[in-house]
Amino acid sequence: MVFYLCSDKNDEMMIDQLLAHRTIRKYAEKHVEDSLLRKILEAGCRASTTGNMQLYSIIITRDEAGKKALAPCHFNQPMVVNASVVLTFCADFNRFNKWCKLRNAEPGYDNFLSFVTAAIDALLVAQNVTVAAESEGLGVCYLGTTTYLAAKIIDILKLPAGVVPVTTLTIGWPDENPEQVDRLPLDSVVHQETYKDYTDEEIRSAWCEKENRADSRMFVAENNKETLAQVFTDIRYKKNDNVVFSNMLLEVLEKQGFMNQ
Ligand SMILES: Cc1cc2nc3c(=O)[nH]c(=O)nc-3n(C[C@H](O)[C@H](O)[C@H](O)COP(=O)(O)O)c2cc1C
Repeated sequence: MVFYLCSDKNDEMMIDQLLAHRTIRKYAEKHVEDSLLRKILEAGCRASTTGNMQLYSIIITRDEAGKKALAPCHFNQPMVVNASVVLTFCADFNRFNKWCKLRNAEPGYDNFLSFVTAAIDALLVAQNVTVAAESEGLGVCYLGTTTYLAAKIIDILKLPAGVVPVTTLTIGWPDENPEQVDRLPLDSVVHQETYKDYTDEEIRSAWCEKENRADSRMFVAENNKETLAQVFTDIRYKKNDNVVFSNMLLEVLEKQGFMNQ
């Protein structure tokens, strides 16, 4: 027997909303009401979660002082201080470990696998929160910088062992309506039954549209690069930076008790 949880009309509205997604980085000076935030968080926490353990915590930052403290951890991206709400999503085994100990059960979660498990839980909630927020007309921006300077965020948000921030969302009422950005063609990212590795021609074809967009060409020219790929490798996501931040994150995982101790 098949149970339909949504009507066809609601299904279509949901798909339309997902297809209309765009990151919002400019927010109006308008408060997101607590009741609305709570509704969005309730919906977010309905995301599937490993073993129904809910291995995440969400830290709400609303105070100006809190946002100002967090801003440098996100390389002073203006969204942090301008958004009505900043949410830091953390992989969290602390709460579950405490429950186990209280109930005479020995937790075995001080390992890397458990971090990945909890990080997946946290990211699923973050994406549910994103979809819920957008359905209410709010704008959202993820901040990948969370895992770069996680140690500082841990200090500021007073995160105990077993808790690691994995992503941040800034949320507010949109004050811009940006053009949608491109995606690779669906057939370039979907494989039938097994992974089909790419020929050079398929790689060229996958990136063709993106490389020929006016904004991409502008990026390349502005940065004095030969190709769009070089903008990524030489400017946006450089190897040296990746290695430095990677080592910092490994130290954080060790300190927070996720390195097979
Ligand atoms: C994990 C993650 C981290 C991101 N980090 C940042 C960020 O630090 N700053 C920013 O302006 N946008 C950030 N973004 C937004 C992406 O740049 C954006 O999703 C992408 O360019 C596609 O644009 P769209 O969301 O409008 O489709 C991040 C997105 C994700 C999923």
